[in-house]
Amino acid sequence: MKIAILGGTGDLGRGLALRWARLHNVAIGSRDGNRAKKFAEDYEQVAERHYGDEMKGSIVGYENLQAARISEVLVLSVPHEDLIEFARLLKPFVNDKIVISPVAPLYKADTSFCYSPYPMSKPSNESPKTYISAAEVVSFELGSKRVVSTFHTLPAKKLCDLTMNLDYDALMAGDDNEAIRLVSKLISQIPDLRPVYAGPLEVSTLLEALTPMLMNLKLYNKIRDPSIKIV
Ligand SMILES: NC(=O)c1ccc[n+]([C@@H]2O[C@H](COP(=O)([O-])OP(=O)(O)OC[C@H]3O[C@@H](n4cnc5c(N)ncnc54)[C@H](OP(=O)(O)O)[C@@H]3O)[C@@H](O)[C@H]2O)c1
Repeated sequence: MKIAILGGTGDLGRGLALRWARLHNVAIGSRDGNRAKKFAEDYEQVAERHYGDEMKGSIVGYENLQAARISEVLVLSVPHEDLIEFARLLKPFVNDKIVISPVAPLYKADTSFCYSPYPMSKPSNESPKTYISAAEVVSFELGSKRVVSTFHTLPAKKLCDLTMNLDYDALMAGDDNEAIRLVSKLISQIPDLRPVYAGPLEVSTLLEALTPMLMNLKLYNKIRDPSIKIV
């Protein structure tokens, strides 16, 4: 499968690329195509050294929109700050491709990390909701139901260390059954990581808020790279 990791030069993108390259052709996206190529070459060497003959996939770098154009699944591994503009640029290249959003909008207050979702532009009489998640914003801007929200509790550092098995859960939210099935399969292909469906895309606020929650646990308890497993 061809998977584009847009913003793939960041920590989460590096980890996902290293993990999925065992089986898939990964396109690393960057705003700068040459930067993407450099990062992809480095990732591919690390993956080849680790997997040896077991490596069936590849890692190649492209400018973000080119990576999106040639891929079947798109991961938006970019910061939340310019997410809306990024989604608008991406829209012509999405069609009915499956889009994965790991985006966790947050900010650092004086003494803790806080969740920072998006205000609803038009609160409706039917719903008391006054804010929505990053994944819902992406779904709205792309005009797509095939957005799956996941990976918010996965520490990039551990994902990047190929010697580590990730005995954690990746909670997922999404509205499209086929998209959920495919993303579950991609998650299961990362050793020990278990996909767990948490509900429709509207529960993504609950998943995204887990990132600042984990960052506060790390801050106050000196837990290194905490994650989540449901028992
Ligand atoms: N790191 C984690 O452990 C972790 C865990 C769970 C979820 N997440 C979420 O996953 C996403 C990626 O995390 P990350 O830590 O890898 O992020 P990051 O390092 O801050 O950013 C990833 C890449 O995004 C690109 N980028 C930066 N500003 C941009 C902009 N304004 N528009 C488009 N692209 C931009 C940069 O690539 P170029 O300069 O090459 O374009 C950068 O290398 C975030 O939304 C984060 O909330 C992260």
